[in-house]
Amino acid sequence: MASREHSEGITMSGGGLYSLATIGAKHVIDAATPMVIDAINSLSQESISSGFTFSDMGTADAGTSLSMVAAAIDAVSTRVPHAPISIVYSDQPRNDFNALIANVYGLGPFESYLDRRDDIFPLVSGTTFYKQIVPAATLDIGFSATAMHWLSAKVCNISNHVQAVGAEGKELEAFRAQAHRDWRQILLHRARELKPGGKLVLINFARDEQGRYLGNTGGINMFDQFNQIWQSFLEQERISRAEYENMTLPQYYNTVEEFSAPLQDPDEAVYIAGLRLDHIDTRIVKCPFAESFTEHADATRFAEEYIPTIRSWNESIFFNALSADRPLDQRRQIIEDYYASYRDIVRENPEGHGMDYVHAYTVISKIA
Ligand SMILES: C[S@@+](CC[C@H](N)C(=O)[O-])C[C@H]1O[C@@H](n2cnc3c(N)ncnc32)[C@H](O)[C@@H]1O
Repeated sequence: MASREHSEGITMSGGGLYSLATIGAKHVIDAATPMVIDAINSLSQESISSGFTFSDMGTADAGTSLSMVAAAIDAVSTRVPHAPISIVYSDQPRNDFNALIANVYGLGPFESYLDRRDDIFPLVSGTTFYKQIVPAATLDIGFSATAMHWLSAKVCNISNHVQAVGAEGKELEAFRAQAHRDWRQILLHRARELKPGGKLVLINFARDEQGRYLGNTGGINMFDQFNQIWQSFLEQERISRAEYENMTLPQYYNTVEEFSAPLQDPDEAVYIAGLRLDHIDTRIVKCPFAESFTEHADATRFAEEYIPTIRSWNESIFFNALSADRPLDQRRQIIEDYYASYRDIVRENPEGHGMDYVHAYTVISKIA
């Protein structure tokens, strides 16, 4: 039976629910597949022959990247038919690694790539991307999608919103400074991991040139909606002010300039470590549930399909923001009520809701 994690910190839905609820995230990764293939084709023959290593950082249950990894394996095999291939899946220790194993080994709802050829070695790590995950100079391609907006720490609570997109003044500055440090730390670890000539393909949530970001591409601002429902719970005294402020998501969406700076400024440690920006562009992948609503026009169906995709990534944060002094059942009920309220809002007035993804697609190389 599917289960949901309620442990501390950030966790995606467990029991394989993550990949089932987040078909949009798969579309985002599929759109990056040509970049991964190009990156593989740029590697030297010697590098691949000595053993090809690919890492998928912040992989969740690996379901959304299975097709991309299969394409990467085919591309490597075309270059060097019998090269041993290691696929290193990493996420936080509390991630649902059982679901990941089921997906990679074909025990879940998805087709595995393992029977494509011999010498494919899936490896699993619970090491955060804020640390070095693989030994120095062993990585050919480092990949990550929709994960590195999670900061290493929540610098402060935001007093009037749940996400940095709604923060102001000193609170916004604190988030910006943390994101600045975190992005550099992520890159410096990758600089150590990469072989000379190796590449990173990083698909990260971003604030684009027109100020758009996840769930804010023209219709209702999704983060404002999250906030409004929690504020109404606060006004109704269903949660305390401390709990409301604890709802703050430890995330930040960099701009293209913020992503690019450490890779282009010769004085930056990342640049000195040998990383260079090959490419960056921002893209929007439409919310699949809002897209299909334009065809079926069934508001109930839209609400029932849309809320689980949101819930898959923010439930653990919201749950853990509730006071541990409350009985567990009460905390669970508040969370159920929260998503039920959201579902009712969407069902009653569906126009403008949706979670379009806004990402920066980035290719970075380690100088040879
Ligand atoms: C939205 S999911 C993305 C999963 C998958 N990459 C995709 O695109 O569908 C974000 C993932 O990042 C992971 N994550 C967050 N912070 C992390 C960290 N510091 N190190 C490793 N993984 C992290 C979460 O646990 C979660 O599994």
